[in-house]
Formats: sequence, C-alpha cells, structure tokens
Amino acid sequence: MKRKTAFLIAILLSLVVLASIWYGQNHGLLPAAVGKEAVLYDKLFGTLIGIAFGLFLIVQGVLVYSLIKFRRKPGDRTDALPMHENLSLELVWTAVPTVLVMWVAIYSFDVYTEMRGSGALMMAHQHHPSPVLVADASGETAPLLPPSQPVSAEPLALEVQAMQFAWIFNYPGDIASAELHVPAGQRIRLNFAAVDVLHAFWVPELRLKQDTIPGTPTHLEFTPEKVGEYAVVCAELCGSYHGGMRATMVVQTPQDYQAWLTEQQLAAGEQPMVASRLGPSLERAQVQELQSQFMAHQAASVGS
Ligand code: CUA
Repeated sequence: MKRKTAFLIAILLSLVVLASIWYGQNHGLLPAAVGKEAVLYDKLFGTLIGIAFGLFLIVQGVLVYSLIKFRRKPGDRTDALPMHENLSLELVWTAVPTVLVMWVAIYSFDVYTEMRGSGALMMAHQHHPSPVLVADASGETAPLLPPSQPVSAEPLALEVQAMQFAWIFNYPGDIASAELHVPAGQRIRLNFAAVDVLHAFWVPELRLKQDTIPGTPTHLEFTPEKVGEYAVVCAELCGSYHGGMRATMVVQTPQDYQAWLTEQQLAAGEQPMVASRLGPSLERAQVQELQSQFMAHQAASVGS
C-alpha cells in the first residue's frame, strides 16, 4: 500500500515536471525576440515561469486533494488530530525555496550583467588583458575602446535625445531622425540625454529598458537581429502626452540601412526638415520648436 502511494506520487511529480518544462517553453507571454540579448532574457523568463507553473500545480493539487480527501464525514463531530511540529517537513520547505531563490538570484544576475553590455567588456578583454575602465556618472563602468579597434567590432554609437514628447536619433553627418534605423547584426550603442524630465527608452522586443536622466548620461547596448519594425515606447511617466511618446525602431539589412542613411543625408542637403539639422546638443529654442511641432502633429492626429 505504502509502495503503491509512493509510486503514484512519483508518477504525478514526473507529470508535473514535464508539464512545467512544456509550459516554460510555450507560455506565449512575450512578443517576438529581436535582439541577441533577448534570447538570454527569454530563457530566464521561461525557466521562472516553468518553476512557478510547477509550484502552482503542486500547491493547487495538494489543496484540491485535501479538500476532497479530508472532507468532514456526515455526522462526524470530532476534532481533527492535534499536530505540533514536523521537523523534517519544515526543513524541506525551508531548504527547497532557499536553494531555488539563491539559484534564481545568481542566474538572473548573470543574465543582467550579460545584457548590460558585457559583450563590449568581453571584446575589450580579448584585445587587452587589462582594459581601462571609466566610471560614468551613473556609477557604471564602461570600457574605453582604443581607436585601433577594428571598426566592425565597435558598436555603432548614436546620440539620442529624449524630450517631452519625442525621441530624436542623431546619425553621423548631422542627420537627426524621429525613427531609429539600425542595421541587423551590428552592435548598437545608444547614448541618452534627457532634455527636460525623466524618460525611459523601451523596446519590448529587445527586452531592454533604460531611463534617461537630465544631467546624467545613460546608455544601452544591444544587437538587433531580425529585420522589421518595432515600437519604441517611453516607459516613464513624463507628462500629459507620455502615452504618445512613441517612435519606431526599423531594423534593416546593412545595405538597406546604408541606403536609408544616404537618402537622409541627401534630403538634409536639399531641404532641411523639422528634425534633420540638429546636432548632438540641442538649443532650448530648438527643443521648444520641436515640442510645439510635435504637439500640433499630435493634436492633428487626435482630431482625425
Ligand atoms: Cu517620455 Cu514618458
């Protein structure tokens, strides 16, 4: 009888494990993964969801089983058995969560550091045994890549301005764009400057989010891998039009990206558009002009 019960429990637990593994890989809760780093995040997320699903099944299973099995019999007016302490059970339910939480903490931190641009760090390590590290204002260290670094290994660095209520992406050759165009397969570095208040750059498909802070430069590195258009969302309440502070990230093949950049440079030469002639540092007047244009555009699109 005892052996039969143990066998049944073993079978049920194996089923729970199988179901958890399956659900961890098929939860369908995340949008498509577009960046190299997104894959790391998705593996972590899938693992956490799998563990949570398994625990859910076990806890709910025991609950439902107990509700049925230990239901009061008709006419039974006695008390339940007096129980006090069960040391081995308490040890198990302390040890298992402790080990789980420690493991999840280490695994998450590992993913976090890897997503926070350790790619560049690793690159620096490969080329220089002891890279020079500088701490920026946010207290993070960033490697100083020497100028001799091969061009392809260096991230494509773009200056980004965040303002109420728009993103401005600056490209080489005095090009400023309201759309973020990036070539697939190339490591991108966005250097953020907040012009007025706190904003946050977020592309769900990249699984990356970075605050932009007035007076404090912040940055984000990623490698987009799938060609397509994705939404850039402001994820920090920044004013009445916060919800409208969106832009598009266009991931293109390197050829298409070059064609787009050339086109922008030509267009900027011919007829200066709203945001096409701004350098990395915006003057207050330019910002205000952009803001009012954006508001007008917003009002027009709300009206239609
Ligand atoms: Cu910018 Cu919300």
